[in-house]
Amino acid sequence: MKKIDIKTDRLHLRIFTIKDITPKYVAALNDEEVIKLTESRYRKWNMASVKKYVGEKANKANESLMIGIFLKGGEHIGNIRLHSFSVYNKRVEVGILIWDRNEWGKGYATEALNAVSNYIFNILKLNKICAEYYSINKASAKMFKKLRFKTEGVFKNHFIINNKYIDAVRIAKFNLKD
Ligand SMILES: CC(C)(COP(=O)(O)OP(=O)(O)OC[C@H]1O[C@@H](n2cnc3c(N)ncnc32)[C@H](O)[C@@H]1OP(=O)(O)O)[C@@H](O)C(=O)NCCC(=O)NCCS
Repeated sequence: MKKIDIKTDRLHLRIFTIKDITPKYVAALNDEEVIKLTESRYRKWNMASVKKYVGEKANKANESLMIGIFLKGGEHIGNIRLHSFSVYNKRVEVGILIWDRNEWGKGYATEALNAVSNYIFNILKLNKICAEYYSINKASAKMFKKLRFKTEGVFKNHFIINNKYIDAVRIAKFNLKD
């Protein structure tokens, strides 16, 4: 996997390592408000389990790449994870989390994912970026639309939250230069 180290206007994007894990980050992974519309919502984390996950699974060549989103001052605020790489089919799946709620709505997710999308197309030479969001996630819907991801399909009643069925929206973006 090619090393990632990107500076945007306000952010530094680089590999997320065990050394970057903070108690605040671990606490956020257990914060219902942060993870309620993600696939992390089924489990509880502690410092040991996060370290084990980041150390063993988060960064594995051609399987998973966890990119930390840091403010220019060095504060860690979120992650973008690339996974389900299909090199033969030139595509990858992305997930994003801004875990620091104080930083929501400032355009950081859009800025980070825009830069990572360019990295996927130009450096990793993949052609398609796939993602999925819970249909009720308004921030995700806006963010992906702004970044010109297009809806590929809706999986009906794909998730259950508080005994209610929620649709999954599958979106994707292509490298139009390819
Ligand atoms: C979804 C998430 C990544 C968005 O991060 P963010 O940095 O707040 O997003 P941005 O500031 O770039 O905003 C993107 C758009 O969503 C809007 N937005 C942000 N939070 C919103 C909210 N709670 N409700 C409605 N719109 C919202 C922004 O206003 C912006 O749209 P605009 O440019 O038209 O104003 C972040 O809220 C998050 O990590 N949530 C928890 C985990 C999660 O849901 N991950 C996504 C799984 S697909």
